[in-house]
Amino acid sequence: MSSYEITRRPRRLRQNPAMRELVAETRLAPSDLILPLFAADGIDARREIPSMPGQYQHTLDSLKAIGHEALEAGVRCVDLFGVPLEEDKDAEGSVGWAEDGVLNRALREMRAEFGNDLLIMADTCLDEFTDHGHCGAVGTDRFGNEVVLNDDTLELYARMAVAQAEAGAHIVSPSGMMDGQVAVIRDALDAAGHRDVAIMAYSAKYASAFFGPFRDAVGSSLTGDRRTYQQDPANARESLLEAQLDIEEGADLVMVKPALPYLDILSQIAEISPVPVAAYQVSGEYAMLQAAGRNGWIDLDATMMESLLSIKRAGADQILTYFAIDAARALHD
Ligand code: PBG
Repeated sequence: MSSYEITRRPRRLRQNPAMRELVAETRLAPSDLILPLFAADGIDARREIPSMPGQYQHTLDSLKAIGHEALEAGVRCVDLFGVPLEEDKDAEGSVGWAEDGVLNRALREMRAEFGNDLLIMADTCLDEFTDHGHCGAVGTDRFGNEVVLNDDTLELYARMAVAQAEAGAHIVSPSGMMDGQVAVIRDALDAAGHRDVAIMAYSAKYASAFFGPFRDAVGSSLTGDRRTYQQDPANARESLLEAQLDIEEGADLVMVKPALPYLDILSQIAEISPVPVAAYQVSGEYAMLQAAGRNGWIDLDATMMESLLSIKRAGADQILTYFAIDAARALHD
């Protein structure tokens, strides 16, 4: 065996599992993970989402069942999205704040079922509920062009957030990228006596093609795109402005979405944020890993854990992921 004079030998700290564990800088825990779930109206059995194998449109019963599975695995928070009946959609998305709308019913039942053991987060956005599929009210400008109206939408978000708080949400999460949405929602919640309801702000949300499978999951009616309100993937700077504004407006947590293609954004925001920073591993990220894993092209469990670890290493304090239960279980093994 040859031998050289090498002073620094980084391999010393990698020589066995105990040594590697001793020096690991990043550790995932089940309680870091938040599970997004879909509550669908008008179905009597849960329905698998074709582009998101292993994920379902849930009935209120199967929603409670999966909530228990999550809690048993050590996940402490779920994020609920609503899938209304096609005929309940309208231009404003009013079924989003209707007391008997599917999302509010789901929130009410989940809070009654889990109390404070499992945190119930609500998606606070209108795109699932509008007949045009946009995240807010649509109008025309003076040249006759269709526009998504910022300030008219804020009023609707305020209504929706208050309805979600009344239904029992611990956390509301405005995801529509309207300017000023966090401030308006905070004011409305406080005025209605919901000072304890927290806001997780989707601060840096990109107009991403990685949302594709999600739009199948919620039966989105969108025909165009969201580029006038979601961010341009070419830009990093505006993410810092968006996060700063949300923090000033009263966000309790900020979030970056998607996760893996935007780790640079995540790490920049994590560096400046005085509040917790979450990241959302979105439907397309999940679908890619599932597709390659199911084809035998990659090791699904290993890539799942590596992707989550990378997101945490880049600066995420919490990770929203469709893998939450699988990953939490893997962490126990
Ligand atoms: C909007 C919303 C979207 C997602 C979460 N909230 C879709 C969109 O902006 O088009 C995407 C989530 C995912 O892809 O997993 N309510």
